[in-house]
Amino acid sequence: MAEPKVNELMEKIVSLCKRRGFVYPSSEIYGGINGFWDYGPLGAELKRNVKELWWNRMTRMREDVVGLEATIIMHPRIWRASGHVDTFSDPMADCLLTRKRFRADQIEPQSGTAYHYTGAMDPASGKVSEEPYAVLLPPGKPPESARKLAIQFYQSRGLGPVELQGERPEKVEHSQRFNPDNGSLLTEPRPFNLMFKTYVGPVADEDNVAYLRPETAQAIFVQFKNVLETSRQKVPFGIAQMGKAFRNEVTPRNFTFRSREFEQMELEFFIKPDEVVEALCGRVAKPEAAGHPGEPRPDWGWQLWHQYWVEERIRFYESIGLPRTSLEEYWQKPEELAHYARATVDLLYKFPFGTQELEGIAARSDFDLSQHERVSGKAQGVFDEELRTAWGKLAPEVQQRLSESYFQHRRKYLLRAGAAEAEAEKEAREDAAGLAKGQYIPHVIEPSAGVDRLILALLAHAFTEVTSTDDKGRSETRVVMRFHPSVAPMKVGVFPLLKNKPELVAKAREVFEVLRGSMLAFYDDAGAIGRRYARQDEAGTPYCVTVDFDTLGETPELKDTVTVRRRDDGSQQRVPIGALRAHLLEAIR
Ligand code: GAP
Repeated sequence: MAEPKVNELMEKIVSLCKRRGFVYPSSEIYGGINGFWDYGPLGAELKRNVKELWWNRMTRMREDVVGLEATIIMHPRIWRASGHVDTFSDPMADCLLTRKRFRADQIEPQSGTAYHYTGAMDPASGKVSEEPYAVLLPPGKPPESARKLAIQFYQSRGLGPVELQGERPEKVEHSQRFNPDNGSLLTEPRPFNLMFKTYVGPVADEDNVAYLRPETAQAIFVQFKNVLETSRQKVPFGIAQMGKAFRNEVTPRNFTFRSREFEQMELEFFIKPDEVVEALCGRVAKPEAAGHPGEPRPDWGWQLWHQYWVEERIRFYESIGLPRTSLEEYWQKPEELAHYARATVDLLYKFPFGTQELEGIAARSDFDLSQHERVSGKAQGVFDEELRTAWGKLAPEVQQRLSESYFQHRRKYLLRAGAAEAEAEKEAREDAAGLAKGQYIPHVIEPSAGVDRLILALLAHAFTEVTSTDDKGRSETRVVMRFHPSVAPMKVGVFPLLKNKPELVAKAREVFEVLRGSMLAFYDDAGAIGRRYARQDEAGTPYCVTVDFDTLGETPELKDTVTVRRRDDGSQQRVPIGALRAHLLEAIR
């Protein structure tokens, strides 16, 4: 079968999501609301499974990570310290004619002839507009259509009949200055802050402004000291959080991929600065080969920790059914890195609309804790007795070298943060002197994933069309959602072979009751058995159990056994009811 076209595939996925109750447009009966999506019964289960698997793997299965559940609205100064108030913006441009808003950097570049106008005059009233305007036409299109649009534009500015003035054609290559839908000129791009603003308390004024969090990460940084003091963790250790984040995206798109309300799963893993590692271990181990570097060791510096988390995250995706081959690692180039980041790897998934980011894993240095220390005035560093002891035993030239390296790093940060030269010099010297006392500010590695993007990747990856032809040559194409059993919304469908045989129904209900406490099971007795299998295939249920006459003893040696059908190959196996629960639990792990 030919590969479906990209948009066709997305359309099929979106339509299946609606039809089967994975994802619905939010507020649909009121016409929907752009950038907001609801998860239906199957989607809610899928999402819950994904979040639970992430949480288990990132916190419960690890001794060095603990969890956090913070509020969505936090003190607004947090967003000043993090840089979101000043810099968390996208460039936006509006169509001068329709006022439709675009993300200026995402407009498809266009070429053609731009017709510029210096203004227009209304011959009836003598009114003049001197506002310049332009329309881009694709190559070969006559100027009349540009004039038509320009007349509409000047009429929208209050002129009646319009005489265009100063028409000037210009050849344009790869321009992002025009509305790709109608060719109209756009406004100059201007920054648009993506945070949703609200007010806390009854007075809606600037003093009470607060923001819906645009990421879950900042709560982790501001609770770092509390967690450190109450969890008995020592650096290196991590704090994980998942929850809602909100961004007023200029152009939400690609279904749930870029939404305005979404969920994140973030880990901030705090590590010792390389200078501290060297003081303690005498060396900083560096990556020697690609791939997973193995169990963490005390001599790891930030590079090995970063590599470790990239590989851990890829393993997580593999474990839930996204093979390594469906992912791409994109190492950001030095010029693309945020100023505080030492390295960032984007894990990309091959979505039907293009290969795009699923998760970012950033080595964020000590920027975040340092910022919160500066803005809140509360110390965010840690004290490490082992460092104090080890430092005292170092040769003076090693102390000098490590101290100088730490000083340079702190000075650079402080200057970037806006400190004056003398202040930066003084503070950085104090910070470097802190090493001898066992004090430092931890660095951080941040694997940050989006739940909704992962759900979309899982939906796209699972979506399979299977065509079968019956004896009469009639072919039928149906959808099978090949989810990994661990994420599949429902784990097993339980059917009596026939609905009108009370003994079969009673036995099937019995089997259903045995299973449903241990996994999400679905009882179905409606329609032909083939239809019931097909419905479960579309929901992505990995196993179906059928109670038939053999279960009741028609073939004595098969009494109290059921048929277990595998979704992916349709193969069937006879399993004793007594062993069924354990059999399925093993299969859906
Ligand atoms: N704390 C770092 C941070 O928030 P990010 O790259 O802006 O980094 C992390 O976001 C992840 O959150 C992304 O890789 C993506 O999966 C998800 N995400 C970001 N913006 C999103 C949006 N508008 N809609 C859905 N998911 C989004």
